[in-house]
Amino acid sequence: MAALQLLLSVCLVASASGFIVMSVGQCPNIPTKPDFDLNKYLGLWFSYENFDAPFQWATTCVSALYSLKPNGNIRVINSGFRDIRIFGRSVHRSSTRAVGEAYIVNSTQPGGLNVRFGNQPDLDGGKANYLVVDTDYDNYSVVYSCSQQSILKIELAWILTRVRGQAPANVDAIKANLEAYDVDTSNFKRIDHSNCS
Ligand SMILES: *[C@@H]1O[C@H](CO)[C@@H](O)[C@H](O)[C@H]1NC(C)=O
Ligand SMILES: *[C@@H]1O[C@H](CO)[C@@H](O)[C@H](O)[C@H]1NC(C)=O
Repeated sequence: MAALQLLLSVCLVASASGFIVMSVGQCPNIPTKPDFDLNKYLGLWFSYENFDAPFQWATTCVSALYSLKPNGNIRVINSGFRDIRIFGRSVHRSSTRAVGEAYIVNSTQPGGLNVRFGNQPDLDGGKANYLVVDTDYDNYSVVYSCSQQSILKIELAWILTRVRGQAPANVDAIKANLEAYDVDTSNFKRIDHSNCS
């Protein structure tokens, strides 16, 4: 019980500071893209908007590169800059890079992947923690992740695009679809893609 209370208070502080999207409730059961085609999905994506999370706090120019590994899994390389600003002025900027590995958890649901970075333990117990909700492979992808911690759910979501910083034509429909599963899309934050080279 003490542990739960500690978890609750840590989460509430993190949530109040906007570093994490957490609320009371059950993770929604959002279907993944039917007949998801991993090969068409590979390559470079840019985060147009995403939910905040500690590991991507203050990041700009966020991209994700997916490629096939010889073992059939997917290599994930997330990169960008951590750009700490005070009153809009950049006071510290450093590049960020995280290398991970992903695989399709169950071939009956190919849009459900498990992603892990570095030597991080598998906190999701081998479950799908990267759900491709929708994608047309050439322009946009909608990715959702939800972790149930007791009565709390911690959510992550990304709208990815093939063109850096360009809103997908169907961004309103993307958000309406998530809202239909009670995902609060006001948590999306635009990623700054200026000065990325
Ligand atoms: C994959 O999913 C199907 C349908 O939900 C299920 O019947 C099957 O047991 C799952 N396979 C594994 C290895 O978990
Ligand atoms: C999606 O991408 C393809 C290939 O780049 C392009 O031809 C098409 O116009 C794009 N569609 C939309 C709706 O942006």
